[in-house]
Amino acid sequence: MTRSIVLLAACCMTALGAGFTWQGKGDPAATSGPALMQDTTKHDDAGAVVERELAKLRGSIAGREKQPATEVFKNIQLFKSMEAGRLPGMMGFWSGALGVTCKHCHVIDQWEKEDRSEKQIARDMVQMVGEINTHLLKNIKNLDSPEPKIGCWTCHRGKVIPEFFPPRDKKN
Ligand code: HEC
Ligand code: HEC
Repeated sequence: MTRSIVLLAACCMTALGAGFTWQGKGDPAATSGPALMQDTTKHDDAGAVVERELAKLRGSIAGREKQPATEVFKNIQLFKSMEAGRLPGMMGFWSGALGVTCKHCHVIDQWEKEDRSEKQIARDMVQMVGEINTHLLKNIKNLDSPEPKIGCWTCHRGKVIPEFFPPRDKKN
């Protein structure tokens, strides 16, 4: 992966993550079945977990926000040139984009570990988004936007598995 892709992806993800609100519908990793995932109480719980963990994380890096993420955190492979203070917003944005809590990609409080394969998938997704934005989308001529871009939300929209077909109940 080239440096420019990483930089671009980092910049876009954090820009999108800045005004983050949790918009998911449930946390598959924290619930035990489809019924629970549709429960609004669970929805509130998941949003609360994300907010609580983000507050803890921001507290734990207080005063070190401007330092490189690589100095403040233990296992940064992707966002090597990013400021530490931008990581919490990005984690919150990813959680919201997939409709999950931190637990989908991490064991809570063991953030640097690679216990869950979803963590590496997320890195691979960032690389894919970088490829699409810097190469594939850029080479499509005559698009409306001067700098068209996609992000996690473009596909995921609050779900772990993006929809392929339009919902059955919607008739166009
Ligand atoms: C979709 C998957 C995903 C979700 C959801 C997620 N993370 Fe992460 N997290 C990652 C990845 C990937 C990295 C490693 C980034 C890198 O390699 O630069 C990471 C790294 C971290 C780190 C740095 C750990 C270290 O010391 O190296 C912390 C802290 C962290 N996440 C906290 C959180 C918190 C808190 C939440 C919930 C609000 C969360 N994450 C949600 C994927 C995720
Ligand atoms: C172009 C569409 C697209 C974009 C953009 C996208 N994803 Fe995905 N993502 C997918 C598809 C498709 C899957 C596979 C779902 C499946 O298993 O069928 C997936 C799966 C995942 C998974 C594994 C989910 C699981 O637990 O099974 C994670 C984690 C993930 N994406 C994170 C991200 C993150 C983080 C971003 C933004 C950096 C992102 N994705 C951007 C299409 C996309």
